[in-house]
Amino acid sequence: MRSDANIAGPMTDPVPGPRTESAGEDVSRETLPPMDDTPIGRAAQLAVEALGRAGEGLPRPEQTRIMVVANQKGGVGKTTTTVNLAASLALHGARVLVIDLDPQGNASTALGIDHHADVPSIYDVLVDSRPLSEVVQPVLDVEGLFCAPATIDLAGAEIELVSMVARESRLQRAIQAYEQPLDYVLIDCPPSLGLLSVNALVAGAEVLIPIQCEYYALEGLGQLLKNVDLVRGHLNPTLHVSTILLTMYDGRTRLASQVAEEVRSHFGKEVLRTSIPRSVRISEAPSYGQTVITYDPGSSGALSYIEAAREIAFRGVAVHYEPQQHGRLGHQNNQHSMAEELQ
Ligand SMILES: Nc1ncnc2c1ncn2[C@@H]1O[C@H](COP(=O)(O)OP(=O)(O)OP(=O)(O)O)[C@@H](O)[C@H]1O
Ligand SMILES: [Mg+2]
Repeated sequence: MRSDANIAGPMTDPVPGPRTESAGEDVSRETLPPMDDTPIGRAAQLAVEALGRAGEGLPRPEQTRIMVVANQKGGVGKTTTTVNLAASLALHGARVLVIDLDPQGNASTALGIDHHADVPSIYDVLVDSRPLSEVVQPVLDVEGLFCAPATIDLAGAEIELVSMVARESRLQRAIQAYEQPLDYVLIDCPPSLGLLSVNALVAGAEVLIPIQCEYYALEGLGQLLKNVDLVRGHLNPTLHVSTILLTMYDGRTRLASQVAEEVRSHFGKEVLRTSIPRSVRISEAPSYGQTVITYDPGSSGALSYIEAAREIAFRGVAVHYEPQQHGRLGHQNNQHSMAEELQ
């Protein structure tokens, strides 16, 4: 990791420590033991703790886990979740590839990856069948983290793909042909359900849906679940919604806890116990070309993403060994009825 990571920024988040909504009554409450009184000392101590925790081993999957981060609703935290989970997993020693499948290129920006128009990108992979290995770049800040960037060209791919052979499975083929060992592939989808998202759903086995704890949080989710059903039925029988993550949770508002409750009652076990708090540090990090994990590792946002990554890593093992333990969404028929319920 870069040695100049800002571990003691000018301000720390009001809430150090990962949060669950049960602990989220008051966002100004601290959840870690008392420490050095000065803000800088406190931030440094939190950072050391965060990185110490990150250094602990996490189970590595036996096979590459390909996770599609999707929600056609815009601005719910897909990109933020993709890059921060990826960085957290890589800090635990996993080899992680982020595929930026959004023409906005936000994931590439957040990972500090050059993605101006001439850079070899995921567009070349999808449209010109260029090998994925020729576009993947290492993320300088975080060892073991790689990114296949998106350039603005990708905006045209949605149309260009329509007339192509195997238009839905071009990303799947590219990933299958990629020879470097990987523990995780995280695919950041655009806020739409077009051919780019379909390519992601065909390539992956797991869907991770970030849900913003705001009014109308569940609106449109039925459509996404229906698409997951369709892709599973016709193109990718392994596809399932494995993970729901509550984002931008603000424990001060009753609305956030109501939304969290509603999501948990709809989706049961797939919802991660850890939710991601609304945090200024999370939103600042991309403008420095960094994830919050390197930008401010001791902040509440970083700690929450590290904790969420830990849950995901352990769930992967549990899912592998105890398939019957799947919650409502783990079962195909239940996923189907869920899609209908949310229409
Ligand atoms: N936990 C958080 N706290 C504060 N701001 C956040 C948080 N998560 C995301 N944001 C901010 O919210 C905005 C939307 O987040 P993000 O870009 O991750 O969403 P998205 O779902 O990828 O959006 P799009 O649909 O446009 O791709 C960004 O400005 C981001 O910095
Ligand atoms: Mg995005």
